[in-house]
Amino acid sequence: MSKAMGQYEDLERILVTKEEIAEKVQELGERITRDYTGKQPIVVCILKGAVVFFTDLIREIDLPMQIDFMAISSYGSSTKSTGVVKLVKDLDRDVSGRDVLVVEDIVDSGMTLSYIKSELQHRGASSVRIATLLDKPARRRVDLKVEYSCFEIPDAFVVGYGLDYDEKYRNLPDVGILAPRIYTKE
Ligand code: IMP
Ligand code: MG
Repeated sequence: MSKAMGQYEDLERILVTKEEIAEKVQELGERITRDYTGKQPIVVCILKGAVVFFTDLIREIDLPMQIDFMAISSYGSSTKSTGVVKLVKDLDRDVSGRDVLVVEDIVDSGMTLSYIKSELQHRGASSVRIATLLDKPARRRVDLKVEYSCFEIPDAFVVGYGLDYDEKYRNLPDVGILAPRIYTKE
């Protein structure tokens, strides 16, 4: 058994398999390629959660592009959003006059992306769109347009394929619901 397999014991169940993810990511890459034809976007990965999705997605987009990284503090080791958004690592590039595609792991309350979107618009980006692997629409607290979403999921705390709980489970190839016994100790 591989080292990562032991982590599956902490899941209540698998929600999205790696095969389902691969199929959706390929479809999304094709759609983005069509939508951005003739453009050269800056594709921004929101660290750390989006990194696995990001590296798969950019290889399905057949366009010249630049990549960049941004880190925002969110949950700490809790499963509840603090609602406080802080920029921890900024982009290396100037986005003014550029088409920016922000890649995120999950949209929950929407606070993180709404902050990022307005910040990039404020810096003069000509367009800012959002691509997310997962979307929990039931939890939205702000009005946010999400242009590209792979899976809508119920209100449950999920890990894997980049998503963590207390910095663990990011390396699981599938997305699963974390067993509540893991975090009810909090
Ligand atoms: P929002 O600002 O409430 O939309 O939160 C977005 C961020 O919260 C994501 O980038 C994740 O880091 C984290 N998050 C929200 N839901 C989950 C989850 O179910 N599992 C792991 N992280 C989550
Ligand atoms: Mg995140």
